[in-house]
Amino acid sequence: MKPPLRLLLVAGARPNFMKIAPLVKAIQRHNAGGLAGGQLIQCGIVHTGQHYDTQMSQVFFDELGLPKPDYNLEVGSGSHAVQTAEIMKRFEPVCLESKPDWVVVVGDVNSTMACTLVAAKLGVRVAHVEAGLRSFDRTMPEEINRIVTDGLADLLLTPSSDADENLKREGVPASKIRLVGNIMIDALIAHLARPQGPGIRERLGLKEGSFIYVTLHRPSNVDVRESLAGTVAELSRLAAQWPVIFPIHPRTRKRMEEFGLAFAPGANIQLLDPVGYGDSVALTKSARCVLTDSGGLQEESTYFHTPCLTLRPNTERPVTITIGSNRLTTLERLRSDLETVLRGPERLGANPPLWDGQTGQRIVEALMNS
Ligand code: UD1
Repeated sequence: MKPPLRLLLVAGARPNFMKIAPLVKAIQRHNAGGLAGGQLIQCGIVHTGQHYDTQMSQVFFDELGLPKPDYNLEVGSGSHAVQTAEIMKRFEPVCLESKPDWVVVVGDVNSTMACTLVAAKLGVRVAHVEAGLRSFDRTMPEEINRIVTDGLADLLLTPSSDADENLKREGVPASKIRLVGNIMIDALIAHLARPQGPGIRERLGLKEGSFIYVTLHRPSNVDVRESLAGTVAELSRLAAQWPVIFPIHPRTRKRMEEFGLAFAPGANIQLLDPVGYGDSVALTKSARCVLTDSGGLQEESTYFHTPCLTLRPNTERPVTITIGSNRLTTLERLRSDLETVLRGPERLGANPPLWDGQTGQRIVEALMNS
């Protein structure tokens, strides 16, 4: 019998946790599958600690049934250089000690890129889940992380065919690319299959389709005073007509305080602490419209066919626009785009190919056969 295939799975920030959870489940299923003479998978989980608040990290481990990480690097916040360097310094000994066959990284956060750099320099093979996405906007830190990660990874596990095309255009050989589908949707389908009790909608007394769900945290939207002030003014105006539910990211909360910004008195806006996975899914499913700059919410709203406006000049997830329910907007166009959406159908779009809950399984197969 072959020795087990050793994986180190890396997660660091909020959107990573729902990407590793389905993988862990697929690995557990693989190992439980009575593989006579087959190869088992041994999997260690590394939490870099890029996100550390309970609401940004632990709630996702609890809700997604993720095992406690085998390693917690506890890096915390910092500038990009400081955070990236700190992750690299702390991940290197873990990699040396555990001698994995593969380091598996997900998404596009600083932890993704930092651990890829370490593994590549140690000669450890890297598999990137959610490879090939491109916004073609290098002012986004995530775009730099994607380009570096994909440039170094040995196995590029892509969510959609546009990602394959991007990689091929960059000269990545087809032999390194596997179109496996969207891992976030595995987490979503598994979550929806579990019994759902009364949730955030009931707690907040919201009727189905009666509110706008807002999340905003991108530096381009919240780190510049004029942009954030303009958005706060638009949301205050919107909230005169529609209840707005706005779980606020720590970055955004800090900036609002720093810039001395507040919503208009009497605006029907519920500012919440960051919500957990189940609550965010429930809000996305029953909102009249989602207004966001998150990558994950563009995909989750597409899955529910909930109209989504993305407050960004571009998206690395074009299928959410060409097939799904998403469209891009700007601060200047926001009011008229919202009017259009709110006059339009309550549900629209369709699900892209391979959003079927089987991506974790396909990733396990790709790792076993590479
Ligand atoms: C990071 C990711 C982004 C992802 C987002 C999801 C990068 C470059 N960015 O952005 O792609 O969409 O996570 O949330 O990796 N903070 C806390 N508590 C925490 C974590 C952060 O208070 O648990 C505060 C800190 O002040 C920190 C700031 O939020 O400086 C930003 O955190 P950081 O991880 O640097 O970036 P995000 O904006 O969260």
